Amino acid sequence: MKIKVAPSILSADFGRLNEEVASVESYSDLIHVDVMDGHFVSNITIGVPVVRCIETGLPLDVHLMIDSPEDYIEDFVKAGADYITVHFEACKDVKGALKMIQKYGIGVGISIKPGTKVQVLKPYLHLLDLILIMSVEPGFGGQKFMSSALEKIKWLREQGFKGEISVDGGINGETGSACVKAGASILVAGNYIFGAKNRQKACESLRGK
Ligand code: DX5
Ligand code: ZN
Repeated sequence: MKIKVAPSILSADFGRLNEEVASVESYSDLIHVDVMDGHFVSNITIGVPVVRCIETGLPLDVHLMIDSPEDYIEDFVKAGADYITVHFEACKDVKGALKMIQKYGIGVGISIKPGTKVQVLKPYLHLLDLILIMSVEPGFGGQKFMSSALEKIKWLREQGFKGEISVDGGINGETGSACVKAGASILVAGNYIFGAKNRQKACESLRGK
């Protein structure tokens, strides 16, 4: 499977957001957008109005780290999301939330925190386009990769899951390559890309170039 690179704008300069997005666009496949509500995670980032302002030709990969994500799916679809990923731990009705995303004809995603067993996803695999494995506690960029993510990725591929498996948190050239070996198809990276002197090189190194 061809590796897709998804820069996380959490590590970008929000005051120049579209310039920052443009700086990585040619070397990336998706733009990863972290939405946090200060409840599900102890940090607050951006919401619908900012997502609506992102100008890019790439698909918007919206990672909702918010409680009751069901209540906001329609708003994020209207704001331009191409994938919406909800957290398993945050949904009142997981299947209902996934069906709601599916109804809008965009990519259906689910994410699990490091402490959540990947096996909980088994009943939903047929509904999913994307599974986002968190390799750090969600909430902040710049944390250390947790290698427990690798077993989760392997398990999903062993189940015959053919959709996208994305990994998020502490991804760099080295941890990214371990994830790809395990079966990941999307690498989300914040600090590694936006903190790099040469962002093109950082993106290419994630592809193993
Ligand atoms: C963390 C976010 C990540 C974050 C990753 O909760 O979901 O997308 O930006 O940042 P890095 O790549 O710096 O670990
Ligand atoms: Zn994320």
